[in-house]
Amino acid sequence: MGLEGAGNPSVHDTNYSPVYLQGLFDDLSGSYELVSTLSSLGLTELWRRNAAHVLRLKQGMVVGDFMGGTGESWKHLLPFIGPDGHIFSIDFSKGMINGAEQRKQRNRYSNVSLMTSDATTLPFEDNSLDAIFSGYGVKTLCSDLHNFFAKEMKRVLKPGGRFATVEITVPSQRALQRLQHLYMYKMMPLAFALFDGHYDRFLMINRYLADFGDGSNLTVVFDQVGLSEVESLPMSGGLATIITGTKV
Ligand SMILES: C[S@@+](CC[C@H](N)C(=O)[O-])C[C@H]1O[C@@H](n2cnc3c(N)ncnc32)[C@H](O)[C@@H]1O
Repeated sequence: MGLEGAGNPSVHDTNYSPVYLQGLFDDLSGSYELVSTLSSLGLTELWRRNAAHVLRLKQGMVVGDFMGGTGESWKHLLPFIGPDGHIFSIDFSKGMINGAEQRKQRNRYSNVSLMTSDATTLPFEDNSLDAIFSGYGVKTLCSDLHNFFAKEMKRVLKPGGRFATVEITVPSQRALQRLQHLYMYKMMPLAFALFDGHYDRFLMINRYLADFGDGSNLTVVFDQVGLSEVESLPMSGGLATIITGTKV
């Protein structure tokens, strides 16, 4: 069907190299949010909101939004942390960071800071963040980098801090797999072709989804690095999965 994974991708796979991915997301940055929301009928937005909820944020908290894109998740995080809270949004694509800067200016978000950085080598002190959010970024990290990412998350989280990643995943039910195939191979590429022209670039996302599968490998990695209470929460029959947990 086209959603079969190619196994555990490694750092030597050029499709997972930072340079390749930065170029890919630079290309997609202009229309990313509009196209992804429209063509998923708002589901990606709903899943982001659910992931923000499981963080159990409180007023004044400092949150890392890792692989934050153009800031698609901020509106779900900011009401919980209020004006005294702060978001540090990290991304390595200049196109995405430019989009994030525009969103920050447009909405006058004074308590959001943007950082151009690789999420696998985080520019934070140990134990410095109250919570970590990551929306739709973990599928393009290869298996080796999942390990670095998880270790870095553990390092920068304060004890008691929670994390939540949300990612599209391959559901176990055949009917839902067919629906996902229609969405990922027909609707999304068509939407990108209409709004943006980067039809072929979008098709690459399917490769990452296939490799990421149901996300269970990442759940294991979070456990292995010593994060606690790691839980996998399938959304909409497994079309997306939130992985959450804490640092003790
Ligand atoms: C699919 S977009 C998700 C954007 C946003 N978080 C959302 O909820 O829609 C994935 C983002 O992760 C970023 N990214 C991927 N790998 C990264 C890495 N190793 N370090 C920093 N950013 C990365 C990409 O540049 C892109 O902006």
